[in-house]
Amino acid sequence: MALQEASGAGPAGRTSPGRPASTGSRPDGDGSAPGQRPSLAVVQEAGNRIAANIERVIDGKAEVVRLALVVLLAEGHLLIEDVPGVGKTKLAKALARSIDCSVRRIQFTPDLLPSDVTGVSVYNQESGDFEFRPGAVFANLVVGDEINRASPKTQSALLECMEERQVTVDGVTYVLESPFMVVATQNPIEMEGTYPLPEAQRDRFTARVSMGYPDAAAEMVMLVDHAGSDPLETLEPVSTATEVRALIAAVHGAHVSDAVRRYAIDLVNTTRRSADLRLGASPRATLQLLRAAKALSALEGRSYVLPDDLQRLALPVLAHRVLPTAEAQIARRSTDGIVADIVRRVPIPRSVEAPPVRAAPGR
Ligand SMILES: Nc1ncnc2c1ncn2[C@@H]1O[C@H](COP(=O)(O)OP(=O)(O)O)[C@@H](O)[C@H]1O
Ligand SMILES: [Mg+2]
Repeated sequence: MALQEASGAGPAGRTSPGRPASTGSRPDGDGSAPGQRPSLAVVQEAGNRIAANIERVIDGKAEVVRLALVVLLAEGHLLIEDVPGVGKTKLAKALARSIDCSVRRIQFTPDLLPSDVTGVSVYNQESGDFEFRPGAVFANLVVGDEINRASPKTQSALLECMEERQVTVDGVTYVLESPFMVVATQNPIEMEGTYPLPEAQRDRFTARVSMGYPDAAAEMVMLVDHAGSDPLETLEPVSTATEVRALIAAVHGAHVSDAVRRYAIDLVNTTRRSADLRLGASPRATLQLLRAAKALSALEGRSYVLPDDLQRLALPVLAHRVLPTAEAQIARRSTDGIVADIVRRVPIPRSVEAPPVRAAPGR
């Protein structure tokens, strides 16, 4: 598997595209063979295997790595937001390398065009016809590096593909192959030369995570292990696109009780009513919170979602979608802090109905 690069340098800087999806066709469900949904123990084993591989190159960030896998199995997209030099790009590349699938990396720059992302129809003199040259988004894993350095127009081209999982160019629709995950990195919005992502676009990301500095012990391991050569260069895939599709199908089978669903709605509703927020979380957020919770429970080998899963995911899934009021901003309250308060305040369902003995069919 080669990490392909597309940059703002224009078409000359691009390598051949990933696998374009067939024109006009619909994705075939979750893409896995029927009747082959693996058990949740298999999800746990595969998750641990992929996480261990990534952690060979990213030190001291087990929680962040876990969240990246949650998003992958929840069929979502991940936004890694943090200051320069904390391993954002490295995490995105390590995830991409760990799975044998098509990968493209887009370095976002101010001169990157929407068509670099989506693709373009070009006239072929020989055939006398137009042919489609797929853009950088045609891959299973798309690493969008420093996404907030591109113009809003180019950002929105990517974000449209993320939501629709398809690309329309000159009236023809191309479906993106499953799995399809965008891992975008960005520097904090206060940094110079950035175009902040509008709320509507942040909402497309299932989760936002900040790397944070490694602790002293992890930084020591980094210095010792990575001093000579970069272990990323020799990182081998430990999973495949086919396996990931099967894992995603298994996650669909995790059971969610009505009590847990109500709890998710309560959490999200409280963000909408909070006096500290002028924009609460959307219904898309509620859906993605539950999907992520299913993936987390499956990664822990559990066939049903617990309120605890929602509590653990509330910050990464909700905090980047809400906006603080002017007062909260002046008081320097972070949206993370506000969401954490909400999680503490909203009562946890006292009894969660026991899941059926056999894993329930997916809901
Ligand atoms: N937690 C970490 N574990 C291993 N290496 C790290 C970690 N944090 C930073 N690094 C190292 O720091 C350098 C910068 O990482 P990079 O991914 O390019 O940062 P960013 O994209 O956040 O600017 C890389 O050489 C990477 O190996
Ligand atoms: Mg980077």
